Amino acid sequence: MSPTPARVGRFDAAGAARLDRNYASPQIVEQRRRLRAAVAACSGEAGLDVGCGPGYLACELSREVAPGGRIVAIDVSDDMLAVAGARVAREKLDSLVDVRKGDAGSLDFPDATFDFVVGAQVYCFAEDIAHAIKEAARVLRKGGRLVILDTDWDLCVWKSKDRLATRRMIEQRRSDYAHPHLPRDLPGLFHAAGLTLARVDAYPIIETRYDPESYGGDLIGSVGKAALRQGVPANEVAAWEADLRSRTGEGEYFFCVNRFIFSATK
Ligand SMILES: C[S@@+](CC[C@H](N)C(=O)[O-])C[C@H]1O[C@@H](n2cnc3c(N)ncnc32)[C@H](O)[C@@H]1O
Repeated sequence: MSPTPARVGRFDAAGAARLDRNYASPQIVEQRRRLRAAVAACSGEAGLDVGCGPGYLACELSREVAPGGRIVAIDVSDDMLAVAGARVAREKLDSLVDVRKGDAGSLDFPDATFDFVVGAQVYCFAEDIAHAIKEAARVLRKGGRLVILDTDWDLCVWKSKDRLATRRMIEQRRSDYAHPHLPRDLPGLFHAAGLTLARVDAYPIIETRYDPESYGGDLIGSVGKAALRQGVPANEVAAWEADLRSRTGEGEYFFCVNRFIFSATK
């Protein structure tokens, strides 16, 4: 089942350009390094990147499956696909990466097509998550790996002058996701799909200085926008954002969000 237009609306041309910039930040580069370590791609393998976004991961993985392998990168957003396609062309990886439209909830591939399936920050958007995990399992060959990176938004913190107000602001962001606490459900979802959980790792993104270009710095505005959409008064949102952005002095800023990387085998 496709994600709701409201959620995927964030991944329009402006959203795609924002992620294209933001995913070059050191925190997300390191996140991808850890994710690729969990995938452990080998030469000759066929991999599927579900919800490929701006295409960084697909490009990086394609070099690991060369020679002889290939990556199929799918996304529901035409704007994201345009950014991913441009990256693949720029990096001259057209022979290794096939970028095409596709939905996690209904994978357009025969059974047992891939050696691995990877999804970073995408299964949180899948409305029928149980079905989407079963689809990933279906397209894996026997012994293949499913690797999912996702966030539990209960594990996101900022130092601020009002801790509970910050908690309430982060709560508004839940509406951006079909599954804002997906990691805690993944072991059960894998089991129901006939997969065996192999490993779980955590990757905390930690920032101790305010930087508007960093992952957390950019997230302040996204949380603020979600709060406005949920009806939080504009002056409250502005005051919350201003407090965080004013924390430029030594020791005044702290941000952390926990990612989880789950690996399962078929
Ligand atoms: C937060 S971005 C993550 C992008 C990429 N996986 C990464 O980590 O670099 C989420 C992406 O998932 C895509 N998406 C959301 N729901 C999807 C679905 N049901 N099937 C495929 N892609 C989806 C969005 O269009 C967006 O590009």
